[in-house]
Amino acid sequence: MPAQIIDGNALAKKIRLEIAAKTAILTAKGVKPGLAVLLVGEDPASQVYVRNKVKACEDVGMYSILERHPADLSEKALLARINELNHDKNIHGILVQLPLPKHIDSHRVIEAIAPEKDVDGFHVANAGALMIGAPLFRPCTPYGCMKMLESIDYPIRGARAVVIGASNIVGKPMAMLLLQAGATVTICNSKTKDLTAHTKEADILVVATGKPKMITASMVKSGAVVIDVGINRLPDGKLCGDVDFDEVKYVASAITPVPGGVGPMTITMLLLNTLEAAERVKA
Ligand code: GUN
Repeated sequence: MPAQIIDGNALAKKIRLEIAAKTAILTAKGVKPGLAVLLVGEDPASQVYVRNKVKACEDVGMYSILERHPADLSEKALLARINELNHDKNIHGILVQLPLPKHIDSHRVIEAIAPEKDVDGFHVANAGALMIGAPLFRPCTPYGCMKMLESIDYPIRGARAVVIGASNIVGKPMAMLLLQAGATVTICNSKTKDLTAHTKEADILVVATGKPKMITASMVKSGAVVIDVGINRLPDGKLCGDVDFDEVKYVASAITPVPGGVGPMTITMLLLNTLEAAERVKA
C-alpha cells in the first residue's frame, strides 16, 4: 500500500487561517504584526522566495515591506538599514534573504539583527537558545517539518531519526528539535560513510541535501516517515525533491511530496514566528 501523503499545502492553509485570526485580534489591540524582507542582488530563486514571503504576510493580514537592494550594496549600508529596522516599532520580524553577495559577510549581517526580531532563528543567540531547549524562534523549515510530524500524530519519543544534511538553516536545528522531542538522532553529512546503513535504521528520515532523488527505495526502512526538504529543478523544468518519491512512497508509511510538502510549511512558520514576535511586544 502506498504511503500516506503528508499534504503541506493543506496543513499550511489550516495553520494560516489560525494565524490570520490571531493577527486580526492583535491588530485590533493596536499591534499589527510586521515583517521586513531584505533582498540584496537579483538571484532569480531568491526573488521568487521573497515575493512569496511578502504575499503570504498580506494574505494573513500582516504588515510587510519588501526591500530590494542592488547587488553592490555595501555591507555597511546593509548593517545601517538593519539597525534602523531593529528600532522600527512597526516591524516585528526582519529577514535578510540568503545567500548574500560575496562581498557581504552573512554572519555579521545575521548578528546585526536584534535577536527578538530574528524570525529566521539564525542569530547565534537564537541558535544557542534552541540548543539548550529554550528556543525563542525555531528556524522555519525544521519547525515546519515538526508540524508535519505532529499532523500525523507520529510518536517521536524513542524513535530513531536520521537527518541528512548538517546546515545551520535546516540540518542542525532539525536534529535539535527532534532530539528535544525525544528521538534518538543521527546527523549525516556529505562525508558520511555507508549512508544506507544509517538511513535504513531511520523511523523518521529527514533529507536536506540538494541532490535530486538521491534517496531511493532500497535506502529506506519499511514503514518509515520520510520528510523531503529538497527542491530541485530537473532539466525538463519539473520540480523534484531529494527523495525518489515515486519509488519511496511504496516503502514509507508517510511521505512529503515536492512540490506541496515542506515548502509551503516553511513560509507558514515564518508567519507564525512573526506573529509570536509581535505578541511578545504586546505582552
Ligand atoms: N535562503 C534559503 N532559505 C532561507 C531561509 O529560510 N531564510 C533566509 N533568510 N534565507 C534563505
